[in-house]
Amino acid sequence: MVDKQVRPGNGMPKPVLAVCGKGGVGKTAFSALLARILIAERLKPLLLVDADPVGGLTSAIGETAVSTLAAVRDRLVGQAMSGDKSALADAASQLDFYVMNALVEHPDFSLLAMGHNREKGCFCPANQLLKNAVDTLISSFAGVLIDAEAGIEQINRDVTGRVTGIIVVVDGSQRSMNTLEMIVRMRSSSHVRVVANRVPKNFTLSLAPSVVHLGSIPENEELRQFDRDGRSLWQLPADNEALTAVREIAWRLTW
Ligand SMILES: Nc1ncnc2c1ncn2[C@@H]1O[C@H](COP(=O)(O)OP(=O)(O)OP(=O)(O)O)[C@@H](O)[C@H]1O
Ligand SMILES: [Mg+2]
Repeated sequence: MVDKQVRPGNGMPKPVLAVCGKGGVGKTAFSALLARILIAERLKPLLLVDADPVGGLTSAIGETAVSTLAAVRDRLVGQAMSGDKSALADAASQLDFYVMNALVEHPDFSLLAMGHNREKGCFCPANQLLKNAVDTLISSFAGVLIDAEAGIEQINRDVTGRVTGIIVVVDGSQRSMNTLEMIVRMRSSSHVRVVANRVPKNFTLSLAPSVVHLGSIPENEELRQFDRDGRSLWQLPADNEALTAVREIAWRLTW
């Protein structure tokens, strides 16, 4: 049997894909389904990053995060605030260890959740930890898939500096198209691809010529019901229509 898995060779940047878009357009559902296809058919081992502070992707694939980057960051802030310099130095020197502890590991993929900062202040934000963690971990993976926070802040703060491709999910609404436009303006449009989710059959997307439309995902009652019941989207049957659409999109992705 032909091994269809892509293993980027030396010198070729590994794919680091960020799924972005307006709140509620279906970023997490798409990320979960795309991850399932990439791991099974194209790109493994895959590092999944749940960069939404409220942790959508983690539950959408039926996982639980034991720790998060925000928890690692809070620990460092706690040490800094305590004034105990040796404790802080100790915590800082063990940073990689804490980050590794936050990684949920499986043979074909691992998951890193960003979590939500409880402590205030701008010391070592979790976003910076995420950037560093991706830099450190990338060598062990064939690629990275990030389910980003809604809106444009993470792109703006260049959390996704290493990103080789941004996939913007739109639902056809004007607001989702505005978010897409802002992202295209911030990033070179050659890095931006678009996925339409739940748009009516006759809906036409008007996109700048350099923005690639990867495909559309239909409204799918089974997917919605799985989400409503808190079931992992990885348990959707192989012939689910939304999953089939995402498979086509996954195979249209280039890196
Ligand atoms: N193709 C689809 N068919 C039916 N329901 C869908 C589809 N895509 C997403 N949904 C539903 O829409 C809701 C929002 O989806 P999702 O959580 O993936 O959006 P999101 O962009 O990640 O939201 P947020 O910005 O809050 O992170 C969920 O209830 C999900 O089940
Ligand atoms: Mg989400």
